[in-house]
Amino acid sequence: MAPQDAVLGWDEDTNAEAYDAFTRAHPMYGATSRDLARRARLADAGLVVDLCGGAGATARAILDLIPDRARVVSVDNAAAMQRVGRRTLTDTRLTWITAPAEQLADHVPAGNADAVVCNSAIWKTDTAAVFAAVAHVLRPGGRFVFNIGGGFAGVRHPDEQSVRTGPSLNALIRQVAVREYGYAPPPTASSAPPKLPLETVTEQLGKAGLAVVGTEVTAQHSTMAEKKAWLSVPVFARPEGDFTHAQRMRMLDAAYALTTPDAPSVTSWLVVVAQRPETTG
Ligand SMILES: C[S@@+](CC[C@H](N)C(=O)[O-])C[C@H]1O[C@@H](n2cnc3c(N)ncnc32)[C@H](O)[C@@H]1O
Repeated sequence: MAPQDAVLGWDEDTNAEAYDAFTRAHPMYGATSRDLARRARLADAGLVVDLCGGAGATARAILDLIPDRARVVSVDNAAAMQRVGRRTLTDTRLTWITAPAEQLADHVPAGNADAVVCNSAIWKTDTAAVFAAVAHVLRPGGRFVFNIGGGFAGVRHPDEQSVRTGPSLNALIRQVAVREYGYAPPPTASSAPPKLPLETVTEQLGKAGLAVVGTEVTAQHSTMAEKKAWLSVPVFARPEGDFTHAQRMRMLDAAYALTTPDAPSVTSWLVVVAQRPETTG
């Protein structure tokens, strides 16, 4: 999928409202955002970039950790997401820029940012271009903290194996879609290499002039009920293909009926902390 294709759906008001409501009702995005913001060491920050900030779930976590005098710039190319953010987040330290992450350097002065935080989005971007732009705006010693979904990074936290009690909600949706809607799933790509493994990330960061200073595979524990709510947000609804949202929701209901609401579900993340060296050259 081309990087720009990945944003289709984000720039729609119904999706943006549903996404924002999900982030407020369920811990998923707030928890990973707080984790990244904590690793960015923001206590003395003056300027922090919330990259691919969407409707502001990550900005909320950043605002909790920065001084009163500091500023946060939230950059995202989906205007609909930012419309929700502008309406719901009124902290005067926060400003919004509607732009692709790849063009960050056009919007933030070189060497000005103390940290750049990117939650749950980096694999949707042209990472080589984004890393170069991040390196351009970070001050020497500034941190770039982001996470990559386990499937994209090719990592699995041990909890994902040990906690799993049955098929995932996505797998059940596929079964319902095949059985009741004539869905023909694309050939499985399970043997395909991960899109964004740590080796690629490290190499691209290095080319951009950033060094990896920490990595961790984390486990996010949730429930089938939270997964169901997540899969109800239009941009995440499955299966892909020629279905209406209403049809997808009927498949989701049928799949969910085969599970128990509090059954555990685990998502793995690769968390990366990179840094612009204190001195260059
Ligand atoms: C899952 S949301 C995460 C938003 C926010 N960080 C949070 O945790 O709620 C992904 C966001 O990435 C944005 N996005 C995807 N590709 C982008 C790109 N190339 N440039 C800017 N934003 C992008 C989408 O518009 C969407 O708002």
